[in-house]
Amino acid sequence: MQSKTDDIEIRLLLDALFHRYHYDFRGYAMASLKRRLVQAREHFQCESFSQLQDRVLHDPTVLPKMLSYLTVQVSEMFRDPSYFAAIREHVVPHLRTYPSLKVWVAGCSAGEELYSLIILFREEGLEERTIFYGTDINPEAYRKAEAGVYSLDRIALFTKNHQLSGGKSSLSDYYTAAYGAAVFDKSLRARAVFSDHSLVSDAVFAEMHLISCRNVLIYFERALQDRAVGLFKDSLVRRGFLGIGSKESLRFSAHANAFAEFSREARLYQKHGGPGNG
Ligand SMILES: C[S@@+](CC[C@H](N)C(=O)[O-])C[C@H]1O[C@@H](n2cnc3c(N)ncnc32)[C@H](O)[C@@H]1O
Repeated sequence: MQSKTDDIEIRLLLDALFHRYHYDFRGYAMASLKRRLVQAREHFQCESFSQLQDRVLHDPTVLPKMLSYLTVQVSEMFRDPSYFAAIREHVVPHLRTYPSLKVWVAGCSAGEELYSLIILFREEGLEERTIFYGTDINPEAYRKAEAGVYSLDRIALFTKNHQLSGGKSSLSDYYTAAYGAAVFDKSLRARAVFSDHSLVSDAVFAEMHLISCRNVLIYFERALQDRAVGLFKDSLVRRGFLGIGSKESLRFSAHANAFAEFSREARLYQKHGGPGNG
């Protein structure tokens, strides 16, 4: 019975967040959202989700912390190195044929995935002709992405991943260590634009050659996944590439027919080139 009441109160809390702040979590997968809301309720020492709703409605300073609970920020550089190895070996040869390129990392969190791609593009000689877009709904996350500063204790993992992805240089070439942090070179973000963009409600903003959206769809219900994949389809040039997370698939997507499986292992797809897919 309590669980049913909780579910009702959660729905009302999500409605409140949407109507008050335009953050729309209503189409997110409920099981994991609920776990995170329970943590938020405990953090704010509220006895019910209704109490939490009251806090968030009346106190805008509560919102950033709520967002940190509602959006999972787990990431790492060159996460799943085989994904980046597949881009390097199989996607880059296609991308080389374009005089200019646009790359979009949707749900970029604190920038780890985006910097991985920028470094890869630099190593492959494509950086100079590319504009990189990093977008997220969590402003704290994309501000961190813009700063490009990571804790030094994460660097060993990033370095190992970079090597496993076929890295052609040393990761240490790209950052300076200072006060327990690794500060990534400003030149890496010279061609990067960071901004707020929601896959739930925002529109296409440019024509992309590669979209990397990893470990974001997994948090969405089916209808929202379809919306996001539809947006990617509309954003990509013909024969453009889409990469998703290792636990994600386009197989059941309403837009599956618009894409060919480019590398099943790496979860890389290529938009079809025919008419109607432009
Ligand atoms: C688990 S992280 C994935 C980070 C990175 N892409 C990776 O795979 O390492 C999920 C990210 O998706 C973002 N996110 C959640 N809902 C979103 C939405 N509607 N539109 C854009 N980004 C969203 C979160 O803020 C978070 O930064």
